[in-house]
Amino acid sequence: MKNITVIGTGYVGLVSGAGLSDFGNQVICADIDESKIRLLKAGKIPIFEPGLKEVVDRNIKSNRLSFTTDVSKAVRDSEVIFIGVGTPEGKNGEADLSVVFSVAETIGNNLNTYKIICTKSTVPIGTGEKIISIINKYKKNDIDFDYVSNPEFLREGAAVQDFLIPNRIVLGATSEKSFRIMQDVYRPLYINETPIVYTNVSTAEMIKYASNAFLALKLSYINEIANLCEAVGADVHIVAKAMGNDGRISPKFLHPGPGFGGSCFPKDTKALLSLSKELNEPMNTVVAAIATNARQKVRMVDKLFNLMGDEIKGKTIAVLGLSFKQMTDDVRESASIKMIQSILDKDGIVKAYDPVASDNMKMIFPDIEYYSNWQEAVNNVDAVVIMTEWHEFRGLDLVELKQLVKTPIILDTRNVLSIKDLVSLDFKFDNVGRRVLK
Ligand code: UDX
Repeated sequence: MKNITVIGTGYVGLVSGAGLSDFGNQVICADIDESKIRLLKAGKIPIFEPGLKEVVDRNIKSNRLSFTTDVSKAVRDSEVIFIGVGTPEGKNGEADLSVVFSVAETIGNNLNTYKIICTKSTVPIGTGEKIISIINKYKKNDIDFDYVSNPEFLREGAAVQDFLIPNRIVLGATSEKSFRIMQDVYRPLYINETPIVYTNVSTAEMIKYASNAFLALKLSYINEIANLCEAVGADVHIVAKAMGNDGRISPKFLHPGPGFGGSCFPKDTKALLSLSKELNEPMNTVVAAIATNARQKVRMVDKLFNLMGDEIKGKTIAVLGLSFKQMTDDVRESASIKMIQSILDKDGIVKAYDPVASDNMKMIFPDIEYYSNWQEAVNNVDAVVIMTEWHEFRGLDLVELKQLVKTPIILDTRNVLSIKDLVSLDFKFDNVGRRVLK
């Protein structure tokens, strides 16, 4: 097992640090954000991620996991340094790597023995070379190091499971020696024969983008099929189910919805596009995935306004679900943002509810009303929109809902409600690709 430092304690860094310590490594999670480290030292988790607290607690108790703001010392004391900091979207679609590069400088300044620098954060193809040159520039001696690209494939809301039981581990290493050391870092997975892809740095970086952009493309595709289903009176759920019977397609990621959000698909598709333009290698499929996704979010707004006969001014609409998907408090690029903004732009009034994401949405829309349960949010409203597929919305009591609202109008952008019940209770409703059953 190895002495490891993970720099960055966000969705990727904290889950990775906790997971690596669970594999038996000695892990320091380092972050310059004092408030985050203070929370973690007090046994609190700064993000909503199911199952993460248990893994963190278990490994703190076993003395395998600790937290610090002294990044330099953590680097000096470790053999393997994971870069797990944010790479948000820059102004013209490319990834902002400023934090990654400043971390590389810190690592260079503290290279006191042979180390492996391992990038977990999603970085554009070719970034590994830049990190290596920054470390070489700042290192004070001719001490050797190796670089490994080890991209993450964590879904928010399932990140702990995705880390501990991954489909594969991708290692783009600059030497056989560093690959062997990384195999030891992931030993429990290596022993239970999780596929380990050993390749070069650029190929590992490409695997991440190629995977994410493909998943985004698959979503935009099923969303367009859903829209066509509406026009021809087909049921997209049956279409998707039958498509999924073909092993080459797989049933996963074929749920039509309001358009994908999150901190990855929007950012990664744009970063890949930015690279393709730079290298003059067209990626028309990714162009289409991005454009289709933007249109899908607008289509949801049009659906709502059509249901309301375009009378929005002064009307009150309940938005149920603010996070970009269920089981997370993350609202980044959530389809709810477009929906709320569009209602406000037409002088509509929004009453919002989400089981966990309200505090994050308040940073974007501080002036709308937030409620602590769906019943209060829908009370006396002119329409209801379901934007996130939280389980509690799947089990929504439509009889109770009908008694609470002023007008029985509902847009179900996640197809979680029973159409049969909506019809029998005389709701005016719409969904995504399932008009057939009206
Ligand atoms: C994604 C990738 O799945 C993960 O492998 C990568 O490491 C990070 O990006 P994440 O963005 O956390 O993970 O969530 P994911 O579950 O992939 O959903 C992304 C978006 O697609 C969400 O807005 C979700 O609502 C939407 N989605 C997903 C659908 O609309 N339909 C689906 O069938 C699946």
